[in-house]
Amino acid sequence: MKITVVGAGNVGATCADVLAYREVANEVILLDIKEGVAEGKALDIWQKAPIDLYDTRTVGVTNDYSRTANSDVVVITSGLPRKPGMSRDDLISTNANIVTSVTENVIAHSPNAIIIVVSNPLDVMTYAAHVTSKLPRTKVMGMAGILDTARYRAFLAEALNVSPKDIQAVLMGGHGDTMVPLPRYTTVGGIPVTELIDAARLDAIVERTKTGGGELVKLMGTSAWYAPGSAAAQMVEAIVKDQRRVFPVCISLEGEYGINNCYLGVPVILGKNGIEQIIELQLNDNEKELLEVSRQRVSEVMAVFDNLKK
Ligand code: NAI
Ligand code: 2OP
Repeated sequence: MKITVVGAGNVGATCADVLAYREVANEVILLDIKEGVAEGKALDIWQKAPIDLYDTRTVGVTNDYSRTANSDVVVITSGLPRKPGMSRDDLISTNANIVTSVTENVIAHSPNAIIIVVSNPLDVMTYAAHVTSKLPRTKVMGMAGILDTARYRAFLAEALNVSPKDIQAVLMGGHGDTMVPLPRYTTVGGIPVTELIDAARLDAIVERTKTGGGELVKLMGTSAWYAPGSAAAQMVEAIVKDQRRVFPVCISLEGEYGINNCYLGVPVILGKNGIEQIIELQLNDNEKELLEVSRQRVSEVMAVFDNLKK
């Protein structure tokens, strides 16, 4: 198995590191446009192998896509991160150009790869990669739902003073402040979360989750990377090992949830063919309304991308 991670910045390098120490593939190629950065980080990760005991080879390259040829999975993290005061959507024109040209290069050398997009604004960058690659929608997906759900699960674990391992949850919609955490589908060791926490505290956690990315940008002056890098690696692992894991993943909806022509996070089964199945939950009226608000927001940013292409 061969994995390529494009963008050797904070998220890309973290993702490559997790892929290596979890031995998800034999070879991980890390590619960046900045001379020497990917080579240096890949070498550093390889030099950690004798300490952490893994044998995945990590190889860094500067913009040489021939070295990525025949990758099974490609993770695209290239692009600007958020700075304080910026929304994810503010990144659109710069990152759209980057993601489009990266996808063209990726597909030219790995026409059968499964693509996982991480660059922001996530839902619209997934759209950009999908239309550029011309791959089936099941092979081009965006990572956000695992991260957003992880933040929600971490906040709940802290509030309830229990292990995050025992919190199961799902979250839908766009990767932005209109995301839709679903308390009705949240359990703690199989127990509905509403039996363990009062409504006001749960609401506060849901609100904190929606702005969880911004909270970190404010603290660090740039966006997060440990959880995002691990989340992307978890998606790669599910595909490479055909695990059929159930995760919220961004995909082009074609009628599911009554939505067409929009890229949104929904629960899916992830396996060797990419998105093996979209799971359609029976949402109640309130959840449907929240998903519709998210759909409208993502559609507006998709329209900005469409106008950039004209
Ligand atoms: P970073 O600035 O640390 O790294 C980005 C890297 O992309 C840089 O090394 C840069 O040289 C490289 N790059 C730029 N143009 C390129 C090109 N044409 N080809 C190859 N490499 C290129 O940024 P960071 O923190 O790693 O974030 C990367 C992206 O991921 C950002 O757009 C950020 O907003 C997004 N992000 C998305 C998350 C999600 O949940 N989907 C979570 C966290 C970040
Ligand atoms: C995050 O949620 C900014 O999308 C990035 O951390």
